[in-house]
Amino acid sequence: MANNQWYKELAVYQIWPRSFKDGNGDGIGDLWGVLEKLDYIKSLGVDAIWFSPLYCSPNADYGYDISDYRKISPEYGDNELFKKVLDEAHKRGLKIIMDLVVNHTSDEHEWFIESKKSKDNPYHDYYFWRDGKGKDGKKPPNNWLSVFEGGAWEYNEDLKQYYLHVFAKKQVDLNMDNPKVRQEVKDIMKFWLDMGVDGFREDVITFISKAEGLPNGFPLPIGTGLEHYKKGPHIHEYLSEFRHDVLDKYDCFVVGESPMTNAKTALEFTDEHGDKELDMMFLFDHMEADCFMTDTIHLPFNLKKMKKAFANWHKTLDGKGWPALYLENHDHPRIVDRYGNLNYRVESAKMLATMCYMQSGTVFIYQGQEIGMTNFHLDSLDQFKDVVTFNNYKLFKKLGFSDAAYLKIANTTSRENGRTPVQWTSGEYAGFSTAEPWFHLNENYKQINVEQAENDENSILNYYRKLLKFRKENPIVIYGDYKEHYKDSDKMFVYERNYEGKRMLVVSSFSDRALRFDAPEGFNLEKGKKVLGNYSTEKIIDNGFIMNPYETRVYLFE
Ligand code: GLC
Ligand code: CA
Repeated sequence: MANNQWYKELAVYQIWPRSFKDGNGDGIGDLWGVLEKLDYIKSLGVDAIWFSPLYCSPNADYGYDISDYRKISPEYGDNELFKKVLDEAHKRGLKIIMDLVVNHTSDEHEWFIESKKSKDNPYHDYYFWRDGKGKDGKKPPNNWLSVFEGGAWEYNEDLKQYYLHVFAKKQVDLNMDNPKVRQEVKDIMKFWLDMGVDGFREDVITFISKAEGLPNGFPLPIGTGLEHYKKGPHIHEYLSEFRHDVLDKYDCFVVGESPMTNAKTALEFTDEHGDKELDMMFLFDHMEADCFMTDTIHLPFNLKKMKKAFANWHKTLDGKGWPALYLENHDHPRIVDRYGNLNYRVESAKMLATMCYMQSGTVFIYQGQEIGMTNFHLDSLDQFKDVVTFNNYKLFKKLGFSDAAYLKIANTTSRENGRTPVQWTSGEYAGFSTAEPWFHLNENYKQINVEQAENDENSILNYYRKLLKFRKENPIVIYGDYKEHYKDSDKMFVYERNYEGKRMLVVSSFSDRALRFDAPEGFNLEKGKKVLGNYSTEKIIDNGFIMNPYETRVYLFE
């Protein structure tokens, strides 16, 4: 049986600050905007906010390239304003989770500026500086490729050495093998925890230990060398150190982002019976039901693949670990465009929320998801902003794709789809700002916005509120067991939950046609209560019903 720990019951709202709400009228989202919207966030029924990075950053990767870990970016406010947001959030019973990005710093961080001054600078060994190969030392130290742009090594003329960057050039990998670097990380954690924050989302945290000697990797078109750092030799040691030296001393929670990790490997980090380095991990496999490895290689949505991922989490983590339930974040296109259907935007958005959040796990909701925001349709590549979009452009060009073909790919698969300003009203600039927003505003803001959703009892927004309330009032949703039915169906997702003598049945259709649903053996629908659903119909025929397109129903049996 699962232990009741507070993080398990949380619903977390993720803010990507640049596009959440502009409060000072410069077209960029900020903490003044967050302050204005705290009551709105609270009204959703969530318990915490996770802030994507708010720190000083040159924005090569919009905050994921940090130049000062202890300072809020002036674009977003300052430390005093942050403290105010923190206090106001706490007053409302909302916890605050900070993003901790310590695989790399910005090349504008003072550590890096020092480190490139000379080989004997005390900060030199904070990063991976290596001599080049070949006669003139002008060949990179190994064959690693960046997962974001080209080679993973950048040459510095003054030092005549290369530095390692697994992500963008301006995101320099920290040398975590240096105990001084680990001490810096622990001090940064303490700094924010002492201020009162309630935990961290740790960015690509499983990448922080690199294989000794930085050996050549298996040659791939992108990310060569990954096998030497995706779960490096000292990863457990370092995470345990952070846990024991800092995190254990606070009542906080930590979720790790772990690309290429599955439920089984997640247990190595999160086993409640072992040395628990992290409380939970963001897995990626359920987000790969319409793509291959990365969103960019888009495939038709495969429901069975998604169901398998969830089933595997529950089976593997049961009693030992804890899932993080999410469908969107700042790294993916919008979910209604992916797993839902824009012709049934409202229905499918509610269905997706239900099928996902009626499982056990901690809930994560990304800004705009609660009103069913959608992908954009940009007409030219120069409207895009993200380093990943531009890097992929280079790759696709090499493969012979035309600009027009790539534009189509970017419109469907780019993570920038999730980064358009939140649509608050149908008014000027969608109520996001009083000035022209920093990034493209989705044209559909006149129809899709928070104001409209507030005024419509049947909106996606109000459905999210109902769903989160139901979750909070019914521990079966959080702690019940999980059993799937109709596993082989490629149109329906059906599972039951059991807890303390209660049963719950969650039925969801992924079809745009009517479908007959028959209750699984042992369930008498007439005896159940329909507690959630996206159509008003209640009709039961022969212990089943005809499901409308993208219909979802939740039955509770007490
Ligand atoms: C994580 C972040 C992503 C960022 C990358 C590098 O995957 O979620 O936005 O670009 O790490 O920091
Ligand atoms: Ca602003």
